[in-house]
Amino acid sequence: MEHRFFLKGNLCHTPVLGRLEVHENAYLLCEDGRSGGIFAQIPPQYAHLPVHDWDDCLIVPGMVDLHIHAPQFAYRGTGMDYELLDWLKMRAFPEEMKYADPAYAQTAYGLFADALEKSATTRAVIFATIHREATLCLMDRMERTGIVSYVGKVNMDRDAPPELTEPGEGRAAQDTVRFVEEARERAYTRTFPILTPRFIPSCSDALLEALSRVRRDYALPVQSHLSENPGEVELVHRLMPDAAFYGEGYARYGLFGGESRTVMAHCVYSSEEEIDLLRKNGVWVAHCPNSNMNVASGIAPIRKYLDRTLRIGLGSDVAGGQTESMFRAVTDAVQVSKLYWRLVDPQAKPLTFAESFYLATKGGGSFFGQVGSFEPGYELDAVVLDDSTYPHPQPLSVQDRLERAVYLGMDRDSIREKYIQGRAARTI
Ligand code: GUN
Ligand code: FE
Repeated sequence: MEHRFFLKGNLCHTPVLGRLEVHENAYLLCEDGRSGGIFAQIPPQYAHLPVHDWDDCLIVPGMVDLHIHAPQFAYRGTGMDYELLDWLKMRAFPEEMKYADPAYAQTAYGLFADALEKSATTRAVIFATIHREATLCLMDRMERTGIVSYVGKVNMDRDAPPELTEPGEGRAAQDTVRFVEEARERAYTRTFPILTPRFIPSCSDALLEALSRVRRDYALPVQSHLSENPGEVELVHRLMPDAAFYGEGYARYGLFGGESRTVMAHCVYSSEEEIDLLRKNGVWVAHCPNSNMNVASGIAPIRKYLDRTLRIGLGSDVAGGQTESMFRAVTDAVQVSKLYWRLVDPQAKPLTFAESFYLATKGGGSFFGQVGSFEPGYELDAVVLDDSTYPHPQPLSVQDRLERAVYLGMDRDSIREKYIQGRAARTI
């Protein structure tokens, strides 16, 4: 069925890194879920199409969260006095154990999906836990939000409490195969499985080897963590002394881009060799500035990665990050880049607002295909923001209004509508 209409409002997007394009009171054509381009006036041949008139609202591409942990949402904003490895032991693992109980998972994942549905996020790459049933329950809930997502049953076979590991020859990988098959049987339209080794400290060589076959056999994308925290990097070095660098530990098992789309979260301490391989294999870096502050990991050198033309998006990393707000991620990415420039490397120019906005939309969106921009052909994900709820005495340009909306976190209370693949989220 053909489905065509216009969105009207103040359209803002970043088709090019660092260049925010503003089209005031303009019309965005939606054709079968994709953008048909932006028009100052409705062209005569389209005069009969319906117009969703959002008046003076801001309309921006949906936010892409390249890295978020659904089971950690329940305890977000607590336990922030730990560094990564202690935080995992003291906070993340005890909470994740609870997802063995389907009733708990149902409640907790319901709250998570509700929050994501209300947010500005239209695409997400999600970690669950090791539990197959609970992860499928999460996928059921995500499917109903309209958000397009990849969801991973986590793989762990060592260095965690027994309730959170699946030790023994191939057990974790076999369980992942069952998960993938059951997820595919459910024939979701927008919720897809992703292969998820938690990180090298949680995965034995035997498990990574088994997962390398699962990746090939099921043509799965991959997500994991990489070079996040000094303690973690040192631990990986001890666990895999013959790996030249952390990422090589994934790459030797074919779990580092190349054939399979891969997201690696953090990359705060990537060596030059690791950066070269991220680039060569086309791995997406999920930059998670809020989390990097909370678990005291450090600041990822994003300017350097941009200069090296890596693929980069932003992640909330809930609950290393305390909020699912991607507006907060955009703000934090700018702010931490300023500290990095001032305190670490005077050559590393801070990110501009437009650069950070690009990362949260078109940057991360590229993991999903043509996503994150209003250019013709792009899948039409859009968020309508009514910033009039935050009055101001002076005139503001649309550009200033957008920056203000992001910095003030208007994704919390000023979203009027969300479109995903050309459909109003409320009607999904
Ligand atoms: N590394 C391994 N597991 C995790 C996790 O749950 N959160 C973060 N931030 N880093 C990790
Ligand atoms: Fe994470």
